[in-house]
Parts: sequence; structure tokens; C-alpha cells
Amino acid sequence: MRYVPAKASAAILALVVAGVVVAGVIVDAVDSRDDLWTHAAATTHGDPYRGEAMFIQYGCGSCHGLKHVRKASGMVGPPLDGIAVRAMIAGKLDNTPDNLQQWIRNPQAVTPGTDMPDLHVSARDARDISAFLYTRAE
Ligand code: HEC
Repeated sequence: MRYVPAKASAAILALVVAGVVVAGVIVDAVDSRDDLWTHAAATTHGDPYRGEAMFIQYGCGSCHGLKHVRKASGMVGPPLDGIAVRAMIAGKLDNTPDNLQQWIRNPQAVTPGTDMPDLHVSARDARDISAFLYTRAE
């Protein structure tokens, strides 16, 4: 075997250890992301993947900022990042899956005159959108 100087072996060992640590962090991040999506689907009985598509289709992002969603950079409504861990919805309703769907479907009934219009979101679409929003814990 070729002679490897001590300094070089130490450097190689450090690189290997760093690689293992980074891989561990990535696996953890992927795991907790999957957990969140599974949990969001379970609490709402909705499909968060379809919900993301519906969120885009209804144009929610024209008024709401939401990280990692194409064209979701609106400034009319509040950003929806972290909505999964907020206590209240629109300062009015306790943040539960039912209330979130009610808000998405009938904001004008909850807060007459609010700047969020009724967008005629179907029950199924509201369920899936709420599943998607509950994947956003930060
Ligand atoms: C025309 C702009 C507009 C559109 C389009 C819109 N919203 Fe809103 N939204 C608002 C405004 C303004 C508020 C704040 C209302 C209030 O607090 O009375 C709001 C509030 C919310 C809240 C509560 C946020 C919080 O911080 O409590 C949620 C959730 C929400 N919207 C989801 C959606 C979803 C999902 C869609 C698409 C189906 C959507 N919005 C489309 C303007 C909009």
C-alpha cells in the first residue's frame, strides 16, 4: 500500500466524518418533512400534494406569500408561512382543520367585508388546501 502521511490520513478521516454528519442531517430533514406531510394528511383527511396544486390554481399566492411556492408572493394578505403552528386564523377562529376550511371557503361569512374574497372553493379543494397549509410549520 502507498504510504499516506499522518496529516493526510487525519484530513481524510475528518472529511469522512463530516460526510456522515451531513448525510445524517439530510436524512433527518427528509424524515421530519415526510412526518409533517403525513401528519397534515391525517389531521385533515385531505391530500396535501393535490392541495398545493389547488393553492396555485385558485391564485391564493396572488395575495399571500408562501415560501417555495411558485408565484406566491402576494402582499395583500398575510404570509402563510408557519400557519400550521399559529393559534388563530384571521384573528377570529381557533386554528383547527374545520375552521381553516371554513375560512378558505367562506371568509366573507366569518369576517364580513374582509379583503379576502369568497373564491367558491369546493369542499374537497378546501380540505386538500388545508392539508397543504398544515405542512407549513415554519
Ligand atoms: C384578494 C386577496 C386574497 C386572495 C386571492 C386570498 N386571500 Fe387569504 N387572505 C386575504 C386577506 C386580506 C386576509 C386577512 C383577512 C383578515 O384577517 O380579515 C387573508 C387571510 C387568510 C388566512 C388567514 C391567515 C392568518 O394569518 O390568520 C388564510 C389561511 C388564507 N387567507 C388562505 C387563503 C387561501 C387558501 C386562498 C386561496 C384559496 C386565499 N387565502 C386567497 C386575502 C386573500
